[in-house]
Amino acid sequence: MLVSAKEMLQKAKAGKYAVGQFNINNLEWTKAILLTAQECNSPVILGVSEGAGKYMCGYNTVVGMVNGMLKTLNITVPVALHLDHGSYEGALQAMEDGFSSVMFDGSHYPIDENIEKTKEIIRIATEKGISVEAEVGAIGGEEDGVVGGGEVADPDECKMIADLGVTMLAAGIGNIHGVYPENWTGLNFDVLAKIQEKTGTMPLVLHGGTGIPAEMVKQAITLGVSKVNVNTECQLSFAAATRKYIEAGKDQQGKGFDPRKLLAPGTEAIKETVKEKMELFGSVGKA
Ligand code: 13P
Repeated sequence: MLVSAKEMLQKAKAGKYAVGQFNINNLEWTKAILLTAQECNSPVILGVSEGAGKYMCGYNTVVGMVNGMLKTLNITVPVALHLDHGSYEGALQAMEDGFSSVMFDGSHYPIDENIEKTKEIIRIATEKGISVEAEVGAIGGEEDGVVGGGEVADPDECKMIADLGVTMLAAGIGNIHGVYPENWTGLNFDVLAKIQEKTGTMPLVLHGGTGIPAEMVKQAITLGVSKVNVNTECQLSFAAATRKYIEAGKDQQGKGFDPRKLLAPGTEAIKETVKEKMELFGSVGKA
């Protein structure tokens, strides 16, 4: 059964580790992440962007697929199904269709409007036992058409949004989606420390987990980050393994063109990436 992200993140915050949010794109992705979480005895959050939701034929299809796998694969670790960077309408729809967690990304609204909309989402989510992530300070880079300028969050605004009763809070601290440019100056730990000081026990979320050096990730976790989002890195691992298979001509040997064979190396590669991240985040054995 899907669970909200609340309990797993509160435990992570108290235990000074982080739970990974891994974005899914299809059946192979979902299966790879769920099997790895079970093998690592780790809680996990499956992230679905609005674009990926559409690609997978809507939230109902995603909920059906994930619930089916939890049962058939005998997944007993805590699993949350989370809408990533949801619009207001998208978050309402995902809650209606059975997601156990939603992010309402109101960071592009003026702060007052962000607050009003976040309150309404929280009201509905609370009735249904769904966790809510809010964002302050845009995360840089482009994800699924959502482009953020990489603005650093104001700790007072973070406190204001945290006090509305969100479950977890994403704050921009120089992190960006996708691969980091050569001249990236790193995470802003001073701001992160101030945000943590103001928001206390609130689990903080680090977006753009791909390509952040391990030491920086660890330091962010010591400063209150309890959820790290990873998307691009699984895509890169999947693509590299698939390329290798095809370049070796394996799709042309026997029945190597069978999608179950063609997509297998990529699926295994996702598993490896997810395992590596769970080890880095410290969530192994924490289910
Ligand atoms: P990356 O694609 O950079 O790993 O970011 C993922 C993310 O933050 C999803 O919200």
